[in-house]
Amino acid sequence: MSQSKRIAVIPGDGIGPEVIREAVGVLERLRETHGVELELTHFDWGADKFLKEGVSLPEGALSMLSKEFDAILAGAFGDPRVPSNQHAEDILLGMRRGLDLYINLRPVRLLDARLTPLRDRERADIDFVVFRENTEGAYCGAGGFLKKGTVDEIATQEELNTRRGVERIIQAAFDYARRHNRRRVTMADKSNVQRFGGDLWQRVFKEVAARFEGIEANHQYVDAMAMFMVQDPSQYEVIVANNLFGDILTDLGAALQGGLGLAASGNIHPGRTSLFEPVHGSAPPLAGKNVANPVGSILTAAMMLEYLGFDQASEAIETAVAGAIADKETTRDLGGSLSTTEAGEAIRRRI
Ligand SMILES: NC(=O)c1ccc[n+]([C@@H]2O[C@H](COP(=O)([O-])OP(=O)(O)OC[C@H]3O[C@@H](n4cnc5c(N)ncnc54)[C@H](O)[C@@H]3O)[C@@H](O)[C@H]2O)c1
Repeated sequence: MSQSKRIAVIPGDGIGPEVIREAVGVLERLRETHGVELELTHFDWGADKFLKEGVSLPEGALSMLSKEFDAILAGAFGDPRVPSNQHAEDILLGMRRGLDLYINLRPVRLLDARLTPLRDRERADIDFVVFRENTEGAYCGAGGFLKKGTVDEIATQEELNTRRGVERIIQAAFDYARRHNRRRVTMADKSNVQRFGGDLWQRVFKEVAARFEGIEANHQYVDAMAMFMVQDPSQYEVIVANNLFGDILTDLGAALQGGLGLAASGNIHPGRTSLFEPVHGSAPPLAGKNVANPVGSILTAAMMLEYLGFDQASEAIETAVAGAIADKETTRDLGGSLSTTEAGEAIRRRI
């Protein structure tokens, strides 16, 4: 692939700039080794800009991103000087909603048997992806208070499930399964008690599954899935769930693969400018100390490359990361002694 892709890089706050610097270093290395041509443009959106200029997501940013860039690589947002977290919400939720990034894709892949808290597991036992619906569900902000602050207070919190929203996330999960030779898609819900939204998800799941011959459509209640993910994670290949359940299951997934420092994610609308970010936050106590684990960001860059069609380069990153971890060339959170920069270099050297 020779065509150059345009990437907006938004390092953000806290450890964001430190880990994104390492991910960018890996992308630069891939230019030499794999001919990956990327044009990177950095944006200084984050707490500093917000505090100085009162600007979080600049005006016109969304149309600029969607017209001028193929993908966005972001670090983390959140700063103790902004207790409301307003800028982080504006920037991250602004991009996820404003660009209609309806797929939250979270791979859960064990890169080294040592990293999982589960006993007697091999790498192949933990290798699945979660498709979390990213634009509606319980996070739509609908609801309200009656008699707030009184003993008779009533709070309602609504969940939004549109036919179109449910269908497109389930379709995306099956498309992924077909493209990646995965044979089973498991949907998690709570349709035994959530009778309306759950009913819609059930009907649509069966309809979509019927279009994918050869891929098993499996269903589990989300509480059972949380248990099975710990007892027998090897049964999962592709999981699809609504926003709330997906949020919870993917954190469990991050724990199974070795922790937040390793977890990568994509916020995707196929064919459009999509956003890739490590799962962890800005970890203010670690910021500026060159100790944060850059692997989550580096694997995020690998996901971005796969999205952009650079499959071999993406695989080369994963192999290099697994090699560095196997040789214990890691930061402290994984039991090593390397700095952020050294851990990034250990990966770059292996590409
Ligand atoms: N997507 C995002 O930008 C995002 C996500 C979560 C939290 N946040 C924000 O980040 C700030 C801190 O939140 P938090 O402390 O709850 O979550 P966090 O992910 O920043 O940190 C949680 C724990 O994980 C550890 N950790 C996280 N990333 C690590 C890494 N790369 N290497 C080593 N250790 C790592 C931290 O030391 C901490 O103990 C808050 O402002 C929060 O709102 C942002």
